[in-house]
Amino acid sequence: MNTRLCKKLGIEFPLFGFSHCRDVVAEVTNAGGFGVLGAVGLTPEKLDVELGWITDRVNGKPFGIDLLIPEKMLDKDANTTDAELKSRIRVGHKSYVEDLLRRHQIDTSDLWDETADDRDSSLMRESGATRMLEVAFKYPIKMFVNALGVPPASIISEAHSRGILVGALTGSRRHATKHAQAGVDVLVAAGGEAGGHCGEIATIVLVPEVLQAIEGYDNIDVLAAGGIATGSQMAACMAMGAAGVWCGSVWLATSEAETTPTVKEKC
Ligand SMILES: Cc1cc2nc3c(=O)[nH]c(=O)nc-3n(C[C@H](O)[C@H](O)[C@H](O)COP(=O)(O)O)c2cc1C
Repeated sequence: MNTRLCKKLGIEFPLFGFSHCRDVVAEVTNAGGFGVLGAVGLTPEKLDVELGWITDRVNGKPFGIDLLIPEKMLDKDANTTDAELKSRIRVGHKSYVEDLLRRHQIDTSDLWDETADDRDSSLMRESGATRMLEVAFKYPIKMFVNALGVPPASIISEAHSRGILVGALTGSRRHATKHAQAGVDVLVAAGGEAGGHCGEIATIVLVPEVLQAIEGYDNIDVLAAGGIATGSQMAACMAMGAAGVWCGSVWLATSEAETTPTVKEKC
């Protein structure tokens, strides 16, 4: 269980806990795994608070952050406002969402109202993400992970110059090759079971394919993700050659998670 990646990161076992909840991140790290804060949706100010909170609780143990910086963001750094982006959502898409929620008796009366939690899309562009990373680099993070696509080259080199590993979610051989060529250190091979945002290939098929695609890149480690929630599943993924596992859903029902009681009951 004490793989090369454990030694690189200074963790006891290769269990990576992805969560948007800081308590889960700190708990996974304190237990000997590696907590990763999902920072999508946070502002730089909120990120500062969350990372300060985690740092104060992990007593020097390692943790990381995950951001979403799409490689092909439309109008990458142009000044498109969020209102303009919203106005491009087709009426049919909105009515589909409304119908779906209504069918499940969920109130849709304020569905399209502006809320304080609305995401600021500028943070998903390279310049905005850089602002987030400037905050992150004030803290002893040990890994930065990009949720979608190849991380920008400038961010990879900045992270490496600070001794921070760079990871990327990976859903196919093609993604794996592109990440490897860009200099990514850790590929999170996320099967379709991981909510599908990386693609539809099942974890048990994807992990060996990713490992095969990066043969020859000796310093890259591959984590398995998607549908993993038990020790035996973790052992199975490592038997396939994964350096460890990256789990998300399993934390949703834990006492540390901010998940609502209704969802916890259903888990
Ligand atoms: C509630 C939730 C939110 C997620 N948000 C993100 C995200 O912002 N960035 C990201 O890289 N992955 C995100 N993921 C996916 C996880 O990184 C991970 O790939 C996935 O949870 C693994 O599959 P599992 O849920 O079956 O363990 C999210 C997962 C969950 C459950």
